[in-house]
Amino acid sequence: MLDLIDRAMCSLQAALFGREVYSREHPAVGGNMKGAHDLLTKAFHQMEQVTILAFEDRVVFHNDKLPSSSTLAEGLFRRLHQRGVEAVSFRRGLTCDEIRAMLDQLEDATKEPEKIKGSAHIRFGWIGSTEPRGEAQPFKLAGNPRRQAGVLQHVWRDIRTGKPGQGELMTLVADICTSVSISRGITLPLASLKTHDEYTFVHTINVALLSTSLAEEVGMRGDALLDLTVAAVLHDIGKRMIPKSVLNKDGKLTDDEWKLVRRHPEDGARLLFGAPDIPAVALIVAFEHHMYPDGGYPRVAAGWKMHLASRIVQVADVFDALRTDRPYRKGMSLQKALEILQKDAGTRYEHALLDAFARRVAVNTQRELPEAASDITRIRSA
Ligand SMILES: [Fe+2]
Ligand SMILES: [Fe+2]
Repeated sequence: MLDLIDRAMCSLQAALFGREVYSREHPAVGGNMKGAHDLLTKAFHQMEQVTILAFEDRVVFHNDKLPSSSTLAEGLFRRLHQRGVEAVSFRRGLTCDEIRAMLDQLEDATKEPEKIKGSAHIRFGWIGSTEPRGEAQPFKLAGNPRRQAGVLQHVWRDIRTGKPGQGELMTLVADICTSVSISRGITLPLASLKTHDEYTFVHTINVALLSTSLAEEVGMRGDALLDLTVAAVLHDIGKRMIPKSVLNKDGKLTDDEWKLVRRHPEDGARLLFGAPDIPAVALIVAFEHHMYPDGGYPRVAAGWKMHLASRIVQVADVFDALRTDRPYRKGMSLQKALEILQKDAGTRYEHALLDAFARRVAVNTQRELPEAASDITRIRSA
């Protein structure tokens, strides 16, 4: 596989430089472009996508340096670097036209470096770690989960005191968006953590990753996608107002305790109301994420129309809750969780959202212990 990817990248590079030496229409250019496309298509028989990381002096695929790494680092990937790109991902379904459009953007080396635009089957990213490491896996949430948990705690505490840690929140949101946008597959931290704070952290990250992935799948892009990720991260913020004794209770909740739990959407919206730089959709999602057309909470007037972002976060929220081990029951299998959601298709959840979720999002997630993901290189989108 390494050789095949190497040849594909060398063909791409030959096509890029051939365009400059000859012309875009030269047969050798077309031949190299087709060669690259054919080789990548071969690779797609074995994997959904091929992602190559480019550090200053080496080009890496699946932790291995490509045989032509130094030539590629000086050539094709230098051009990408000039445009801020350090990771490129080709997905199954890639067309020659998409390759041509990518090369168009790389052709003029003298042009001011600019944001290069990806396409449906080509994604670009950059690696924000101060010390990029070849062994880093790009498709997991960036950063140490324990540090991320600390960030979340700060963000939540700060919002409560009226001083939201916007910088930290946006770093986390950018990490989530990039983890999702650069890769079809996502790795969720596995909720094996015991305390409520840790459970909440893992749940929050899972819901944010799944929601962002689903939103992207149904066509959300740009600021709307970023805002949705912020909303997903903050969807349960109202739980901060629930007493720890209730949150950490092992046994069944009493009616009064349930009443306290059911207040968290309103409390969440209240906490976010007026918080500077928090998108309005975060408040809406916090308020609506336990509502259903046939009930749920809080109770609202008949005919209430839920925001699309709330409906997206809701699917992710319920799915994660079903999949996660809790003190009183084991987490369900992927299949079982999807079946449960499907029972309410058309009533609680929209068919289109559930279909996209089942076909594209849920099946592409894997779960693993947070510790295993502790030294992941940070990836951000270009
Ligand atoms: Fe909730
Ligand atoms: Fe939740």
